[in-house]
Amino acid sequence: RPGAQEWVPASADVGALARAVHDCRGCELWGPATQAVFSSGPDDAALALVGEQPGDREDQEGEPFVGPAGRVLADALHAAGMDPDEVYVTNAVKHFRFTERGKRRLHKKPDVAHIRACVPWLEAELSAVRPRVVVALGATAARAVLGRQVRIGAERGQVLDGESHDVLITTHPSALLRLRDRADFGETFDAFVADLRTAAEAAA
Ligand code: URA
Ligand code: SF4
Repeated sequence: RPGAQEWVPASADVGALARAVHDCRGCELWGPATQAVFSSGPDDAALALVGEQPGDREDQEGEPFVGPAGRVLADALHAAGMDPDEVYVTNAVKHFRFTERGKRRLHKKPDVAHIRACVPWLEAELSAVRPRVVVALGATAARAVLGRQVRIGAERGQVLDGESHDVLITTHPSALLRLRDRADFGETFDAFVADLRTAAEAAA
């Protein structure tokens, strides 16, 4: 099929995948981006978190969730009683998609075509890591993990049985960032923490 498949080495471990992703030309997003961003965390983790795509900071540093969304995510993992370093963290799409506004690079959501093109990397890394539970952070991740459109509000927080791993859908930490100064931030944050805790218990 079109997309990343021809650049994904067969039965590779995470290290080999992370090296190979830099050559990927599976869609056009590699062009404007600084570099591909693969994963972080142990390659035998019981829990894997899947985000949307690298942001501006991640694109520059080459690591997932090292920017503002990553800080919220780490706070929430701590609040759920987890060590962020013990979780495998990756993204549905491995290159940063953005539009330029003056000197600023503004995040632009990946299209369904980008998600489809990039999914062979996610499938390969999940085959290598074999987590018990995969948490999809937001709609893009959920589409990549489940291969269908998902309404977060309707499906979040449930442990969905799968063949090779269970799946839990929750919000994206960037959605929390946008609420930071609002009165209902605490409630939204707590709901995110509760979902992470549900996932951790299912993975234990
Ligand atoms: N948002 C994501 O989905 N992934 C990152 O790596 C950073 C921000
Ligand atoms: Fe390849 Fe994914 Fe980057 Fe597209 S976004 S070039 S499919 S790694």
